Amino acid sequence: MTADDAEFGTADERSTGAQSTGDATDGDGVGTVHLVGSGPGDPELLTMKAARLIDESDVVLHDKLPGPEILGMIPAEKREDVGKRAGGEWTPQEYTNNRLVELAREGNDVVRLKGGDPFVFGRGGEEMEHLADNGIPFEVVPGITSAVAGAGAAGIPVTHRDHVSSVSFVTGHEDPTKDESAVDWDALAATGGTLVVLMGVGKLPLYTAELREAGMDGETPVALIERATWPDMRVATGTLDTIVDVRDEADIEPPAITVIGEVAATRDRVKQFLQGGGADAIAEADPTAGDAGGDE
Ligand SMILES: C[S@@+](CC[C@H](N)C(=O)[O-])C[C@H]1O[C@@H](n2cnc3c(N)ncnc32)[C@H](O)[C@@H]1O
Repeated sequence: MTADDAEFGTADERSTGAQSTGDATDGDGVGTVHLVGSGPGDPELLTMKAARLIDESDVVLHDKLPGPEILGMIPAEKREDVGKRAGGEWTPQEYTNNRLVELAREGNDVVRLKGGDPFVFGRGGEEMEHLADNGIPFEVVPGITSAVAGAGAAGIPVTHRDHVSSVSFVTGHEDPTKDESAVDWDALAATGGTLVVLMGVGKLPLYTAELREAGMDGETPVALIERATWPDMRVATGTLDTIVDVRDEADIEPPAITVIGEVAATRDRVKQFLQGGGADAIAEADPTAGDAGGDE
């Protein structure tokens, strides 16, 4: 899995009318497409519905983000990878859209499996619209988003009555062809709430600088949570001023979320008693302590 696969998912994520009956086709022989969230990666965080639909499906179109454990549970003969192609090119979103329609028209029951929740930075909205435009029955099966579960598994509540009453979910990766940032970091800094940045490992220096320029305190706690709920999950903590060095020292790579705000410090107060969720595999990265963040 390359860093980009993990950072961005694919090149490109409740029921909307189609009934999940297990019957692969409608009256015209057209199959149903299920837009399914896999959760952050721990197979036990797959919903029961997601697991059943994967089991009953004819084809599962996926990228790498559901993680090796979940993908490893799906028979190879019914998996189609629409993540990165050989040579490093993304599978164009148009290909994925058209393939979903093609498979459904052939009468297949199709699971389009996406990491986390299909509608949180997952292009599920685009795929849903394409299916509707082509008259393909579909169903949306929400998943547990890494934006909330990744923090939680690390002992970080995204809201906390003592600290914050709002949380914003932000992309750290923007279309490089855009002239101006679509993300208003000034406005986000002004909320005083928790910021959870997805796809934000590579651009960490840029948006931490933007937040500081917007007046956010350099001492604001920040946590990077890598491969949340996977067996090799790691967590690195610092402040707005130090987190870039922390990232480099610990060699944090995608997929990871960045949690910015007072809640990020909660982990340090509770981690001694934190169980499960790969707690034993969590590595702390603290450059001032000379710890490179290897697994403990
Ligand atoms: C294209 S977005 C998809 C988000 C996904 N739909 C969700 O709800 O979690 C990809 C980004 O999600 C985040 N992500 C997904 N799974 C993760 C995990 N297990 N641990 C940490 N971050 C994860 C990372 O920020 C990654 O770059």
